[in-house]
Order: sequence, then C-alpha cells, then structure tokens
Amino acid sequence: MKNIMITGAAGFIGANFAELMVKKYEGKYNFIIFDKLTYAGNIENLNNIKDKVTFVQGDICDFDKVMETYKKYEIDSVVHFAAESHVDNSIKNPFIFTETNVIGTHTLLEAAKQFWGEGSQNRFVHVSTDEVYGTLGEEGYFTETSPIQPNSPYSASKASSDLIALAYAETFKMNVCVTNCSIFLSIWEVSGNMTSTTLFPSMESLFSSPDTCKSSSSKNACDTNNTSLEVGFFS
Ligand SMILES: NC(=O)c1ccc[n+]([C@@H]2O[C@H](COP(=O)([O-])OP(=O)(O)OC[C@H]3O[C@@H](n4cnc5c(N)ncnc54)[C@H](O)[C@@H]3O)[C@@H](O)[C@H]2O)c1
Repeated sequence: MKNIMITGAAGFIGANFAELMVKKYEGKYNFIIFDKLTYAGNIENLNNIKDKVTFVQGDICDFDKVMETYKKYEIDSVVHFAAESHVDNSIKNPFIFTETNVIGTHTLLEAAKQFWGEGSQNRFVHVSTDEVYGTLGEEGYFTETSPIQPNSPYSASKASSDLIALAYAETFKMNVCVTNCSIFLSIWEVSGNMTSTTLFPSMESLFSSPDTCKSSSSKNACDTNNTSLEVGFFS
C-alpha cells in the first residue's frame, strides 16, 4: 500500500483535503500527516479522521525530522500544503515566510531526492497559489504562462518555492507537480456551506496528473482549461 505524506494538514485546506482523501481512499493508501502545529494549525481539524491517519508533529525546515519521517513510514508520495499563508502576516514579519515557504519546501524536496533517488517517479505535489502571478484587474484570468509577478512577501516566497520545485523536477528528474490554485476562502465565504467534497474535485485531478506539470486551477482568477489532466496518483 502506498504511503502518502500530507504536510500542513492541520491547517485549513490540508485538513479538508486529508479528510476527503481518507474518505475516498481508506484501505488503499496510508496517510501520514506532517505538521508543526503553528498558530495556523489545529489538531482538532483532523478529529473526523484521527483514527485513520498517522500524525507526526514536525517542522518542514528540520531536515533530519523530515528524513526520519520519510524513512520510518516509507513515504512514496508527498502532498505539500504546509506554509505560512497569511499575506498580512508576511508584511509584518516577512522572514518567517522565506524560512517556512522557501527553506521548508527545499528541505522536503532535497530529503525526497535523497530518499527516493534522482529520476524517481514518486510524486511530489507542491501546493502553491495564483498570487505568484500578481493581481488581476477587473477581468481576465491567469494561465501557466502568465508572468510571475508576486507583490507581497507571501507570494514572493511561494513563487520562490515554486521555482525550486520546478528546478528539482528538471535537474533531478523528479516527478514534481506545482499547483497554482486560486484563493479558497472566498469560495467558502460565498457558498457558506461548501464541503470538502465540492472544494476539491479539480485539485484531485491535478494531483493525479501523470507528468511533471505546472498547473493552475480553480474558480476566480485562473483559466481552468488545463486542470483535467488524468489519472495515476489516486487511481
Ligand atoms: N487559503 C487559501 O485560500 C489558499 C489559496 C491558494 C493556495 N493556498 C496554499 O495552500 C496551502 C495551505 O493553505 P492554508 O490556507 O490551508 O494554510 P493554513 O495557514 O491554514 O495552514 C498551514 C498549515 O501549515 C502548518 N505549518 C506551518 N509552518 C509549518 C512548518 N514549518 N512545518 C510544518 N508545518 C507547518 C501549520 O501548522 C498549518 O497547519 C499553502 O501552501 C497556501 O500557500 C492557500
């Protein structure tokens, strides 16, 4: 059985994703949740699945802890949500954003490269944001070819981590997927009663795309034409 590590799954999106994955794939995959439990993480977000996942408290910047976790649980795939994610905080205290989002992502990738080996087909999904493309006007969409124009320390740190992830894909032939999803909170606020099941269908197809890719998804700001790449990861 495959062992999938989900980072940041005590946070908003990761917890919803983990719950959906456990409901759909219990018995098919083991899920290992790796989270530091910062102010943004709450272990109670995992209450519905706590008996069905393994929880590891750890910092994605801690190479030894990451490697220990990869080895102990024989991790085959990583879905990486863990981040400092609040733009306002990045203006007050930008350095932690560089540390967590850039160094943390690099640490996960480097440990994966060492554990899996160069050229491994094990999937590493790096969850990023459409904010790396900057700000839209009243109309229009971002696509994968939109210029990278981050305009906050948060989005700059995510853009940096995207580039490192893509560099690992190219240089070390790792099976890395970067998703540049739109903001989810606004969708949640608009719909009020949106569930994780309705939140993630397009994300799931992204996670299952077979090749190294740089994909954008979702509702408000991204062209969704390239979100339907098929099969592999969760088939
Ligand atoms: N919220 C959105 O609307 C949105 C939109 C697009 C992309 N994203 C991206 O999705 C991901 C998840 O966003 P979110 O809103 O759920 O974030 P969140 O702030 O709610 O949760 C982040 C999680 O990461 C954990 N974490 C933080 N630093 C860590 C570290 N050093 N080591 C291990 N765990 C750590 C926290 O404890 C928390 O559980 C982020 O990468 C974010 O950039 C979010």
